[in-house]
Amino acid sequence: MAIQILAPEVASQIAAGEVVERPASVVKELIENALDAGATQIHIQCLSAGKKLIEVSDNGEGIAGEELPLAVLRHATSKINSAQDLWRITTLGFRGEALASIGSIARLTITSRTRQAEVGYRLIVEGGSEPQIQATGAPHGTTVRVEDLFFNVPARRKFLKSDPTERQRIDAVVVDYALAFPRVQFQLMQDGRLSFASSGNGERREILASLMGVDEARQLIEVNYEDSDFRIGGLISPPGLTRSNRREIHLFVNRRPIQDSLLTSAVLQAYHTLIMVGRFPLVWLFIEIDPQKVDVNVHPAKAEVRFANPGQMFGLIQHVVRRTLVAGSSLSVFPAMPNPPVWQPPFDEIQSARSEVVQGTTTSSPPVPHPETELPTLNQKIPLLRWIGQVANTYIIAEGPDGLYLIDQHAAHERVLFERFLRQSQTTITSQKLLQPSLLTLSSAQAALFEEQIPILNRLGFEIVPFGLNTFQVRALPSFFAGVDGALAVRATIEDFEENEEPLKRETEKRLIARICKRIAVKAGQSLSPEEQKALLRELEDCQSPRTCPHGRPTMIHLSVDLLERQFGRRGAI
Ligand SMILES: Nc1ncnc2c1ncn2[C@@H]1O[C@H](COP(=O)(O)OP(=O)(O)O)[C@@H](O)[C@H]1O
Ligand SMILES: [Mg+2]
Repeated sequence: MAIQILAPEVASQIAAGEVVERPASVVKELIENALDAGATQIHIQCLSAGKKLIEVSDNGEGIAGEELPLAVLRHATSKINSAQDLWRITTLGFRGEALASIGSIARLTITSRTRQAEVGYRLIVEGGSEPQIQATGAPHGTTVRVEDLFFNVPARRKFLKSDPTERQRIDAVVVDYALAFPRVQFQLMQDGRLSFASSGNGERREILASLMGVDEARQLIEVNYEDSDFRIGGLISPPGLTRSNRREIHLFVNRRPIQDSLLTSAVLQAYHTLIMVGRFPLVWLFIEIDPQKVDVNVHPAKAEVRFANPGQMFGLIQHVVRRTLVAGSSLSVFPAMPNPPVWQPPFDEIQSARSEVVQGTTTSSPPVPHPETELPTLNQKIPLLRWIGQVANTYIIAEGPDGLYLIDQHAAHERVLFERFLRQSQTTITSQKLLQPSLLTLSSAQAALFEEQIPILNRLGFEIVPFGLNTFQVRALPSFFAGVDGALAVRATIEDFEENEEPLKRETEKRLIARICKRIAVKAGQSLSPEEQKALLRELEDCQSPRTCPHGRPTMIHLSVDLLERQFGRRGAI
């Protein structure tokens, strides 16, 4: 379709608002244009966090010379022309506003050549001036240069964050589109340095590996769901891989990165009880849905969408993520669960569940389970175990009625300590005075952090009092921690805080206790007497969620009799 100016009645139906808020918004709009033009290679160059220069070059279809002046007019677009088109949008752009807005607040140069054209054309607009156009030699495709952003609206510059922050936002935009379009090759240079590159080979995991490292990227579980109305793909972290904030939950609808608090909470619900409170999964979900069932014309930056049936989307996302998690974790953590939930694939199928598309029902309505009720849980209780021995001073071997259990003594002890706390916190927490109070001296930064925790700790049964400059005295411990080193336990509450981790108001107590449990639990490699090992097993049997530690890592590997028979080739033998 050629570029044309939308009729006023169509233009007036487009969500109003500012498109260009910051350099990253320019990068986003220009990348979207390149993708809509069918580019397979997109190069982005920024100087001074995009304030001095943003240049995006693509090898897409280009803009014809005679249409070039139209491209920078408001409500001029080649992507829709009627109001009905707003309900069948398959392109990323449709508002016809980005280039016009950019041209009014920066020095904009567009150089473009279509495949058919002998020459290219260059158009220049400075702060909303009359466009100047001239013929020029140019490769096929389009290069858009945006210099001195906000040069004529200095007030807008004041709202920008520091250069590193603005640079990070640009990085994030490029990464989002590289993941949404893994077959397109992206390259981002910031101040002459390569900041990000993707190969365009279609492998999302490879892109993530370049960002988070191979080890973590390898752990991500593939999501693959399809029914007659939806397709959902992507990668999600197993319960053991989490972050301290929800920034790594990324949602895309029809390849458009979106913010959606409802779907984010559906994802969190799916992880509920599998990961500790205060921890968040890493999620990249790509949802494909009929464009008629989703309104993208809600937000000027196209960052939000409205679903025709939000409740159905919530249920679907929660179900798909949960199901993927259980199938993914079953393989490595709990090969066979007693009484598997109805829909859970038998063990043979779990092997292939990771790679195969999980087929949904063939009826037109997707399975939308009632939140919570149908969700399976990994944290079932364990049967009574008979202690057999220990390997590497780390793993306890035990036998149950349904096979062999290998138990990680550290993770198991963490769980046991944590549940002692949970049980006590339902009644009144009692303290136990230390015969010899311990002293704790901290750096002044740590001391400041620690002082904030003291009231919470004292409520939990500790007795901690300031004892001079940056020094504290631990006089009593909650009785569920009887016998542990007081200073060690308390120190755990301020160590290893992850960057940006802030105590969460409602969840602080559990989080603090989980940190303490991790610190004081018996270590891997620590030798335990048979009696101590047996006592640990007894306590673990009593736990509500014995199969994971409070941080969500597995405490045990269960090798069922069934699995052993298969592995030894006995199944079916005479
Ligand atoms: N990189 C590009 N390659 C080809 N055409 C482009 C490119 N950038 C912009 N255009 C053309 O300019 C028009 C206006 O772009 P824009 O202002 O971003 O509005 P929209 O993308 O909403 O249509 C687009 O509809 C498209 O026809
Ligand atoms: Mg656009």
